[in-house]
Amino acid sequence: MKIAIDGPAGAGKSSIAKLAAKELGFIYIDTGAMYRASALYAIENGIEICEKSFTKDVLDKIKIDIKYDEEGQRIILCGKDVSKRIRESDVSIGASNIAVIPAVRIKLVELQRELAEGNNVIMDGRDIGTYVLPDAELKIYLTASTDERANRRLKELREKGQTADFEQVKRDIEYRDKNDSEREFAPLRKAEDAVLVDSTGMTIDEVKNRILELAKEKM
Ligand code: DC
Repeated sequence: MKIAIDGPAGAGKSSIAKLAAKELGFIYIDTGAMYRASALYAIENGIEICEKSFTKDVLDKIKIDIKYDEEGQRIILCGKDVSKRIRESDVSIGASNIAVIPAVRIKLVELQRELAEGNNVIMDGRDIGTYVLPDAELKIYLTASTDERANRRLKELREKGQTADFEQVKRDIEYRDKNDSEREFAPLRKAEDAVLVDSTGMTIDEVKNRILELAKEKM
């Protein structure tokens, strides 16, 4: 069984998907982490994030591996565990920018489909229900108001000891919303057959239970 969770930045997709995957005994696949790792490669190697930079040669050098341990999914970029670094805000913006480039998307979608093949998975991202797994048995479009998403992100950053300001976090989210939904290739949008879940004002547990309920109906 495949469950696709799409939605804008900060909607809580990964927290919810992780918890639901644990309860269902499914594999959780965080596709945003792959765009983030690709953006980090560009940042660390001084590669400008634009279409002409990502030739086949460059793409072949971006080696992304996914490992699973008790902490969940780990992202290994060219042999190095970058799971923490990819959560920083320069990488978030870079990921949204790199995600516009079709050649990058094609490479990562191939990896995503390979990981999903033959497994029960919950995959989260922007184009899972519309493009990566169009036959997923359950599709969720998870969203929340911009202010709520910015507040959640702010709390997350502060808990990690990073200094962050509400207006800046909100601007970054608005920038990514626009970039992710207005790009030409596989933009962020709700699949026609996706269930809309607006998590504004809901706790993580309430959202998780709603998703488990929907999953159990399908099972
Ligand atoms: O889910 P996230 O915030 O970790 O994703 C980072 C960026 O990657 C997001 O702004 C857009 C891009 N992305 C995408 O285009 N398609 C996906 N399936 C997942 C992420």
